[in-house]
Amino acid sequence: MTARPPDIIRSAFVELVVTDLDAARWFYVDVLGLLVTAEQPDALYLRAFEEYLHHSLVLRRGDTPALARMGYRVRGPGEVDAAQRYYSRLGAPVHRVPPGATRGIGAAVRVQDPLGFPVEFFYDAEHVERCTQHYHLHRGNAPTRLDHFNVMVPDVEAAHAYYAGLGFGVSETIEDDEQNLYAAWMFRKPTVHDIALTGGDGPRLHHIAFATGERAQVLHTCDVLGALHEEARIERGPGRHGVSNAFYLYLRDPDGHRIEIYTSDYYTGDPDNPTVRWNVTDNRRRSFWGHEVAPSWYTEASTVLGTDGTPVPTTPPPVREAERAGGTGVEVVAVGADGFSVATGGGCSEGFELGHQT
Ligand SMILES: [Fe+2]
Repeated sequence: MTARPPDIIRSAFVELVVTDLDAARWFYVDVLGLLVTAEQPDALYLRAFEEYLHHSLVLRRGDTPALARMGYRVRGPGEVDAAQRYYSRLGAPVHRVPPGATRGIGAAVRVQDPLGFPVEFFYDAEHVERCTQHYHLHRGNAPTRLDHFNVMVPDVEAAHAYYAGLGFGVSETIEDDEQNLYAAWMFRKPTVHDIALTGGDGPRLHHIAFATGERAQVLHTCDVLGALHEEARIERGPGRHGVSNAFYLYLRDPDGHRIEIYTSDYYTGDPDNPTVRWNVTDNRRRSFWGHEVAPSWYTEASTVLGTDGTPVPTTPPPVREAERAGGTGVEVVAVGADGFSVATGGGCSEGFELGHQT
């Protein structure tokens, strides 16, 4: 008998290893405005303003920056058992951990999923005060909630199949004319995504995203960083993605972890929600306004740790040679992460060398 997958509600928390906890606190609390739920000598537990679970971000002091854990909340305590059975059947490393193994989190199962990522499934969690209307405490961009993870994988098709098997819907994709898949946005909660799967050396964490209420709060973050002379932390944006319609801003934290501030995506909760399929040659998918993308956005990402705490080796994706779009005469070049960039005159519009970016 095949074990069914756990009933996942949403992406719920992430644990990052940071080398300087004071610097991380400055960035996430003083600049971005996350709330401190708890702190220990070696860890900070933070949440956004509408969140009532103990935390959505754990920052843990360590020697090397890394992703330590992605947390998915499941629909009830029995679904934690379902996760244990499902991943045991898959032959993945599975560890049952007692309540409190992660502060504020109840009984949980930790796995190294088939894509190589460290994932924790939980239901029980300590409740804390939701601060949506505590406007006197709002600062930074007043982030409302953790919205999604974005991960780099060498085989997007396989990653898509794995997440489809977990019951995730597909809101948007990037494909070529032969329906080869370059990236996919997949969800359990009724938004565009809980996880984005993008091509590249993997497994690596590309970014985590916090939602905020409106575009003005994204722009305010830029002004704050400029005023602090920390403008170099702005890696990309602000701008509008074609994919997801999100108004976005990408920042780098003091350890290089990439954080997105995100607003303006849309509801996907009906069972017949249509999948938006972007062509890999349509540059509006990445920037609806045609902005170029900083090369670091494609090449740099966070190391991930296995359940044993050691870095997971990465695998490169298959090399995609420069191709010529069928019949259009427009040359397109593989740039990694989300497919091709339209090039003119044999060069790449984004300053890349021809060939795949790793
Ligand atoms: Fe994102």
